[in-house]
Amino acid sequence: MKIAILPGDGIGPEIMEQAVRVLNALGEKFEMETAPVGGAGYAASGHPLPEATLKLAKEADAILFGAVGDWKYDTLERALRPEQAILGLRKNLGLFANFRPAVLYPELAGASSLKPEVVSGLDIMIVRELTGDIYFGQPRGVRTAVDGPFKGEQEGFDTMRYADTEIRRIAHVAFQAAQKRSKRLTSVDKANVLETSQFWRNIMIEVSKEYPDVALDHMYVDNAAMQLVRAPKAFDVIVTGNMFGDILSDEAAMLTGSIGMLPSASLDKNSKGLYEPSHGSAPDIAGQGIANPLATILSAAMMLRYSLNRAEQADRVEQAVKKVLAQGLRTGDIYEAGTKKVGTKEMGDAVVAAL
Ligand code: IPM
Ligand code: MG
Repeated sequence: MKIAILPGDGIGPEIMEQAVRVLNALGEKFEMETAPVGGAGYAASGHPLPEATLKLAKEADAILFGAVGDWKYDTLERALRPEQAILGLRKNLGLFANFRPAVLYPELAGASSLKPEVVSGLDIMIVRELTGDIYFGQPRGVRTAVDGPFKGEQEGFDTMRYADTEIRRIAHVAFQAAQKRSKRLTSVDKANVLETSQFWRNIMIEVSKEYPDVALDHMYVDNAAMQLVRAPKAFDVIVTGNMFGDILSDEAAMLTGSIGMLPSASLDKNSKGLYEPSHGSAPDIAGQGIANPLATILSAAMMLRYSLNRAEQADRVEQAVKKVLAQGLRTGDIYEAGTKKVGTKEMGDAVVAAL
């Protein structure tokens, strides 16, 4: 099994180092090859997704991704910014199914900004469509408006669009995820305003007929945003498009108070995938050895489970993380009085020791 290791920018390399140590501690020799991506890709070869990196990602069985982005690159034109690396990987590899779990670890209930009774036991799975929608829809750009009340002015425009097949395939992924959990699925859209959303909703209803054991309901995205902070435990699996999923998954992650703990998986139709922590590159703390490596370590566990077919090893890694939390070890982001504050490497050491 070959794993592409793409550490990226900011805290990416530090957290990745710990995840690689954990993989190496499992007692199996994985082939791992590292390549630059994001700002690091731009610095190395003038593009955030260098050709050699894309080639490696294509030939690997799975990709472990750190994080991209740094203020240094904010002034580059959009096509060269670090974010283009992750968008390019998603699009080029057809990684349309994004799983973003938001799980509250009982030991960390105090870290949430919501009351403990509102979030205790929280366990949501957001299934976000990742290669369509307004993110990739053409046409887009800036032009002179040819009609409407602002005719003749410059205008910016993007296109929200979803094809039948695109909605259907993410629907199947989401219904199957719901079947493995509590058999409840909430589809989030804006069907009261958007044509794309009404089309999305109709197809969700059609596909639901193939999954009579799953209860499907629909929610407008604004209401979903509100319900997520009012009564988040009412949700189980949420399926939504690329744009709404981007926003709601950050909101859901924050409910757990520990975005530094949350992994994610982006899968293609054959379950080849890219695995990355839900958090960003945190350039403000990069290089200080204080970042939380657990989301990346847990992303490696998801990779073992979904792409490498090694559920038992995935369980071992997840158990090791739980054990380390139970021992009271915390990086700064999840630290509370009465626990022991550790750095990135010490946290990695502890997980390796627990394994
Ligand atoms: C995410 C990020 C990306 C997105 C950015 C970095 C392009 O916010 O993975 O959620 O918008 O999808
Ligand atoms: Mg996002």
